[in-house]
Amino acid sequence: MTQHIPKVVSERISQQDSERLTKRSAATQSYDCSKPRDDKYMTFEEMECFLKNLCENSTRASLTSIGKSTENRDIWMVHLRSEGPKAGGAGAIWVEAGIHAREWISSAVGLHLLKDLLQDDDGTAGHFDVYVVPMANPDGYEYSRTSDRFWRKNRSKTSKPECSGVDLNRNWGFHYGVGASDFECSEVFKGAAAFSEPETKALRDAMKKLKDNLKMVLSLHSYGQQLLYPWGYSKKETAPDTEELIEKGRVFADAARARHDKVYTVVNSAGDLYTASGATDDWAKGVLEVKYTYTLELRDEGFHGFDLDPSHILPCSEEVWDGLRALLKEILAE
Ligand code: ARG
Ligand code: ZN
Repeated sequence: MTQHIPKVVSERISQQDSERLTKRSAATQSYDCSKPRDDKYMTFEEMECFLKNLCENSTRASLTSIGKSTENRDIWMVHLRSEGPKAGGAGAIWVEAGIHAREWISSAVGLHLLKDLLQDDDGTAGHFDVYVVPMANPDGYEYSRTSDRFWRKNRSKTSKPECSGVDLNRNWGFHYGVGASDFECSEVFKGAAAFSEPETKALRDAMKKLKDNLKMVLSLHSYGQQLLYPWGYSKKETAPDTEELIEKGRVFADAARARHDKVYTVVNSAGDLYTASGATDDWAKGVLEVKYTYTLELRDEGFHGFDLDPSHILPCSEEVWDGLRALLKEILAE
């Protein structure tokens, strides 16, 4: 194309172009780790850098690696210590994000929540000990970023050399195997056994340590704009505390909607979505007996689906934060 442009002009264009390009790549490289990005989805390394920076600069936040992924990446957990008059007494909140590789918005929102939780203006969240694992499936996330955008599982090897990966949200040991696949090549392959995967083992062990203290477990996914309450394994059984799960769920949804007018529906996992067992929420409810366990399907309603533009990162984080804060306020008042 450029051959039709006289040489001088063409040189000027290419010089401008190259200046623009150098500027842009310099901007990308110069990510200073002080806040999560909202202009693009971050690399796993950028996310790690943000977490380290956050915990180095806050007396309330500490960073622990709760285990390693199949490809030896750290599974990071941030602990935000409680403060204020109810410190310690209000219990603990667990937030997991990024267990499904392609659901990039999930980790992005998880990181933004960390910043919001720390800056909590009216002090609600500060009464709780909050634990956040923003990148629960780092291998899958990087694989989705660099090789296969719509990859869902982790990256462990299976007994079939041509098919790798386990669906980590089918690998938890509660009614394991119902509504999940035992076929290695399936997107929802449950794994060789419950907790066969290093990622689910790490999450389980860290959660078990908090067992009696846990008031809520929230698992962030996309997409659908739904707040799902258990059970996921069966349509026929009703989970304990269902009424309160719905009631508190609506508090979340109303507050979230008030921010950017996005509707989140509060629905039963198996009854209104589909039967699937071996997920974080069911295990936390069934085994740890945590009262409030939810899976939150973030933006959007399906138009862009997993391939959500980064311009949604900020507004989606804002509405989730407003919803979560309202919900925590309710739990605190119990
Ligand atoms: N989209 C999520 C998944 O397929 C929903 C999980 C809901 N929870 C459940 N226990 N089924 O993993
Ligand atoms: Zn998911």
